[in-house]
Amino acid sequence: MPAYEPTLLFDAPRLAAGLGIGRLLIKAETRRMGLPSFKVLGASWATYRAICTHMGREPGRWENINDLATEIAHLKPFKLVTATDGNHGRAVAFMARLLGFEAEIFVPAGMARARIEAMESEGATVTSVAGDYDHAVARSSREAGDRCLVVSDTSWPGYEATPSDVIDGYSTIFDEIDHALDATGLSQPDLVVVPMGVGALMAAAVTHYRGEHRVSTVLAGVEPLDANCVQTSALAGVPMDVPGPHGSIMVGLNCGMPSRVAWPRLATGVDWFVAVDDDAACRAMRDLAEAAVVAGETGAASLAGLRALLADRSANDALPDLGDKTALVIVTEGATDPAAYRRIVGRDIDSVGRVVTAIR
Ligand SMILES: Cc1ncc(COP(=O)(O)O)c(C=O)c1O
Repeated sequence: MPAYEPTLLFDAPRLAAGLGIGRLLIKAETRRMGLPSFKVLGASWATYRAICTHMGREPGRWENINDLATEIAHLKPFKLVTATDGNHGRAVAFMARLLGFEAEIFVPAGMARARIEAMESEGATVTSVAGDYDHAVARSSREAGDRCLVVSDTSWPGYEATPSDVIDGYSTIFDEIDHALDATGLSQPDLVVVPMGVGALMAAAVTHYRGEHRVSTVLAGVEPLDANCVQTSALAGVPMDVPGPHGSIMVGLNCGMPSRVAWPRLATGVDWFVAVDDDAACRAMRDLAEAAVVAGETGAASLAGLRALLADRSANDALPDLGDKTALVIVTEGATDPAAYRRIVGRDIDSVGRVVTAIR
């Protein structure tokens, strides 16, 4: 992938002190290959794998994305399709542009103009669907055909390979964290906090941290209060639908149903489920701005969840005591709606300093 490099992992000592924990590490997915979220890691790998399956073989010899585009040019006219609440769709549109394909992205009604324009800037056709994210998913699934691949990050009966590949693609984040920790001699975090929409990112976290060497890292998943489908499913023991409309400003997490392929890992591998409201997300955006991180509403959810977990600790002894421990939050998104960012944080994106020091 062009412009690939590991994203920063860094220490936020002032935030850690404010939260009363030993150390806070932030993995900042606010800029990844030129896009404002981690999603391209899943979209790129899943697109590649879906194309191989479609052709019934690997492409011929290729060394960079332009070679690959040439190798698969015979498929054209060809389209990539998905549903999104913003970031995944932009990543799929980005892949389509790199490969010389068309892209059509189905979005829930009422999506912020800035997010739609970001997808259009990649050359995608953006089609608004009456209803929420789950309606957009259902609509996109009907597009599959000889000249059209659906590259979805969530799964449904009969559609599981691509969303599994999306999860595999996300493993890069956790490998990078390990490399950065190894390079600096830091030990593994005691707690890792991950935002959850359909749970694909968390499924990648479970695969990584539930490997035999890391059983002691606690995993906490964060969702909006009215779209806590993974938490609700975990309590029920089976995947549950939390019907919309889901109105949180953490739009990337406004999902009513966990991904089928993620579910077995979510059911067994997540230790704590936290649901937060929009005020908590706004506060976390402001906190992160103080730490020189420009985080969007969804991206800040992990810090909001960590704060909520720590606040609940006084009422629940079973929660981990992090007084001298290390928590790692994955900030999954930069500011994808600059006007909303200004309203919430009270500052323009450009006025938030970027003076952070990577631990690597
Ligand atoms: C910025 C951001 N963070 C987190 C998530 C949640 O990821 P998942 O749906 O895999 O749980 C999303 C999903 O769209 C997202 O856009």
